[in-house]
Amino acid sequence: MTSAPLRFGLVGTGYWAHIAHAPALASTEGIELAAVWGRDPQAAAALAAEYRATPYEEIEAMLAVVDGIALAVPPDVQAPIAATAARAGKHLMLEKPIATTEAGADELAAAVAEGQVASVVFFILRFRAEIRQWLADVTARSGWHGGLTSWFGSSLLESSPFNTPWRQDKGALWDLAPHVIALLWAALGPVTSVTADAGPADVSHLILHHQDGASSTVTVSQNGGEAAAGFEAYLWSSAGRSAVPRLMPDPVPPLRTALTELAENIRAGRTEHACDVGFGRDVGHVVAEAQRQILARRPG
Ligand SMILES: NC(=O)c1ccc[n+]([C@@H]2O[C@H](COP(=O)([O-])OP(=O)(O)OC[C@H]3O[C@@H](n4cnc5c(N)ncnc54)[C@H](OP(=O)(O)O)[C@@H]3O)[C@@H](O)[C@H]2O)c1
Repeated sequence: MTSAPLRFGLVGTGYWAHIAHAPALASTEGIELAAVWGRDPQAAAALAAEYRATPYEEIEAMLAVVDGIALAVPPDVQAPIAATAARAGKHLMLEKPIATTEAGADELAAAVAEGQVASVVFFILRFRAEIRQWLADVTARSGWHGGLTSWFGSSLLESSPFNTPWRQDKGALWDLAPHVIALLWAALGPVTSVTADAGPADVSHLILHHQDGASSTVTVSQNGGEAAAGFEAYLWSSAGRSAVPRLMPDPVPPLRTALTELAENIRAGRTEHACDVGFGRDVGHVVAEAQRQILARRPG
C-alpha cells in the first residue's frame, strides 16, 4: 500500500524557488508541492498556478495545511519563519546558511528540537551523486593530511540573477563558504577551529583544523570576475591527491535527493540527518567566527 504524499509548502517565489525548489518539490516521489507563499501575492499566485498548487497570502494559513515547508528566501528571513514552522510541527527543507547570526541559528536549532521535526539543509555538494561517490572513496582511505579548495563565483555581477541584497551584504563568506566547509567536514572530519582573513573583490580565506589533525583551506569569492570563475578542490596525502569531481549545473537532481531523504526521515519518525539543522548550526558557527576575525583585522 502506498501512503499519501507529504504536503509541502514553498516559501519564496524568486529565481532559486523557480529553478530549484519548485521543480524539485514537484518531481520528488512521496512529496506534493501543495502550496506557495511569497511576500508578493501575485508572484505566489503565478508560481502556484504553474504547479497546480494553492497560493497563500498569509503564511500562517499555509502552515495550517502542510506537513512541511521548503524555504527559498534570504537566510535572515528563513530563520524566524522556519523556527515558527518547526514549533508548529512542520518539517523543514532548509537553505544554507541556516541563518546569518549564531543566535539565529541556535534559536532555529532549538525550535526544531522543541517541535521534534525532521530537517535537512541543502548543502548542495553533499547531495550530488558524483560527489557522494568521491566522498565514499576518500573516507574509505585514511591518511589524508589535508585539503585545498577555492570557489570563485560570479553572483555579484550586475547581470547575475543571484545578485540579491543579502549576498551583496554578506558575500561569498556566507554564501559559498558554508558549502565548502560542509564538504571538507565530511571528507576530513569535524572542524575544530578556523583562522580567517579577507582581501579585495569579496575574497575570504579560511584555514580549518579538523578533529583528527588534518588541516584545509577555503578561498571563496562571488566577485572575482567571470574570467576567474571556477571551483577547484582536492585532498592530499603523501600518496598523492584526490580531486573533487567537476560541479554540475543542474540543482534539481541533488535537491530531489535531499527531499527524498527528508521524506524518508519524516515517514520513519527520524529527525537526525548528516545535514540536519544541528549540522547547519555547526557550519554557521565556523562562518561566524571567521567573520569576527575578518572584521577584527579590518583597519579602522
Ligand atoms: N543550495 C544552493 O546551492 C543554493 C543556491 C542558490 C541559492 N541558495 C539559497 O536560497 C536562498 C534564496 O536565494 P537568493 O538569495 O538567490 O534569493 P533572493 O532573491 O534574495 O530571495 C528569494 C525570495 O525571497 C524573498 N524575500 C526577500 N526578502 C524578503 C523578506 N524580507 N520577506 C519575505 N520574503 C523575502 C524574495 O521576494 P521578492 O521576489 O518579492 O523580492 C524572493 O521571493 C538563500 O538562502 C540562498 O543561500 C542556495
